[in-house]
Amino acid sequence: MPSYAFPDRYVAAAAVLLTTVVLPPPAAAKRADAAKRHPAAKSTTGLNFSAAFPFDWCVADKKGKGPPSKFQIFLEESLVRVLIGEEPANWKVVAENYLDGYHIPIAHPALVRLLDYKRYEADIHDHWVWFEAPHREEPTDNWIVRLYSKIVQPMPGLSADDLRVWRYVFIYPNTILDIYPDQMNTWVIRPTGVDSSHDHYECYRPVHNSLRTRVAQRLNLRLNTIVAHEDIDLVRNVQTGLGTRDYECGPLSERDAALAWFADRIRGDLGL
Ligand SMILES: [Fe+2]
Repeated sequence: MPSYAFPDRYVAAAAVLLTTVVLPPPAAAKRADAAKRHPAAKSTTGLNFSAAFPFDWCVADKKGKGPPSKFQIFLEESLVRVLIGEEPANWKVVAENYLDGYHIPIAHPALVRLLDYKRYEADIHDHWVWFEAPHREEPTDNWIVRLYSKIVQPMPGLSADDLRVWRYVFIYPNTILDIYPDQMNTWVIRPTGVDSSHDHYECYRPVHNSLRTRVAQRLNLRLNTIVAHEDIDLVRNVQTGLGTRDYECGPLSERDAALAWFADRIRGDLGL
């Protein structure tokens, strides 16, 4: 089994490369300007998507086909929260952590009470990966998860099929969509140094929500804040490990296909 981890010098090179290709800050004026310069680009959820990325396809259907997006409701004027953060790790380490589902049962004890990891799947495309994370039949042992599962309802436009699954989309090289039954988050990871990254999160919700749904959204946020703190600790430790002489590349399992895809994409862009 080949290893896909990079030596440090390639991590540094990738960080430099990414600083040249990440999208500009999502200020309205800049979005309008980008749309004028690139008429085929899509501008939504505060992000500019180049014509090369079939955003509508991705959101419409994970296979790239299908009717207009039922998630369109999340892409309207319903931005409710912006979070800015820094992570003590290279952009590639942060992205790999997101792409790796293998660490979920070990690193996220609350999240794994909600997700049925055996049914966790990654659907890999040329430019993005779509993750399906179905929920357990009966979440247990964590009050946040139990209560969230009990009260969450599908938002307008969604169906019962969308209720017991969390979906994640990683768009190469640094953009993420978290699609939940009750809200949708975007996350852009921008490299700021060899061992640091800047995070820009935005949370989108329907304009009108019932009290029950607002409670579910708060529980979702609370659970994912716990997960985020666990991931920050993880990437900090991985970054520290990368800087030691004892670091060795390990093999990837079949469950790590998204990691292999990501490394191959970077290798291709760097001409390695
Ligand atoms: Fe994680």
